[in-house]
Amino acid sequence: MKQLDKDHILASTQNTEYTLELFESIGSTNDYLATLTPGRLPRFCVAEQQTQGRGRLGRNWYSPLGQNVYLSCQYPFQKNIASLAGLSLVVGLAVINILKHYLPSAELKAKWPNDIVYENKKLAGILLNVQAESNGFCSAIVGIGLNVNMIEDIENHIAQSWTSMRKIVGNYVNRNDVCILLIDSLLKYLKRFADIGLSGFMQEWQEVDSLFGKKVNIKSMTGSVTGIARGIDSLGQLLLESSSGVVSAFSTG
Ligand code: BTN
Repeated sequence: MKQLDKDHILASTQNTEYTLELFESIGSTNDYLATLTPGRLPRFCVAEQQTQGRGRLGRNWYSPLGQNVYLSCQYPFQKNIASLAGLSLVVGLAVINILKHYLPSAELKAKWPNDIVYENKKLAGILLNVQAESNGFCSAIVGIGLNVNMIEDIENHIAQSWTSMRKIVGNYVNRNDVCILLIDSLLKYLKRFADIGLSGFMQEWQEVDSLFGKKVNIKSMTGSVTGIARGIDSLGQLLLESSSGVVSAFSTG
């Protein structure tokens, strides 16, 4: 197992306008960044292992030592919180963008709102936290858990069906290279999102939307709704067509 190498990563990305911290072990890279006041530059945190890795909806994110990539980025936006709608979808596209480099012919899909899947098995997950600032602007903490070299989960830590880059490519994958590509890709996508918002990514989303045309059931606080997925709206909400043909939008809440 090759360890992550901070100096190598810093020296190899095309973009140099960010800071990076690397931990051997940490509770959660997202939680760590949440303790820091946002600066002018994007701030990345990567860990070899997380002991309290967090997933969406209060779930855990299994984060064994040295196998996968656990990466978070604190990104300062000169925007208010409302204008970040759709950000998590754009982060998903940034992840798929680097995965295509390794898996050019694989059917990589984004499953609204936050999963990256291959043959319906989860390859990566995204956790987003938004921090409001006193000046009316905000910053986002974007956390990415990408299964890279994990090939087994003997103790059944993971409840849903999953896969990893190594399982798909059939070979060990260099995690330093994955981090380098991921940092450059994220910075590119986040900058574009800051400049033009979700509208610049609608077509790219359509190309990888795993739910489109499928029957979907959404559970909310008020009950559950079933319909046929019809893509997303300009706020990144999922569009569902009911049996009577009415299309309604649903957010992740
Ligand atoms: C999900 O699909 O439930 C989201 C998983 C997000 C996991 C990543 S790993 C890096 C960052 N730190 C965390 O504690 N969680 C995110």
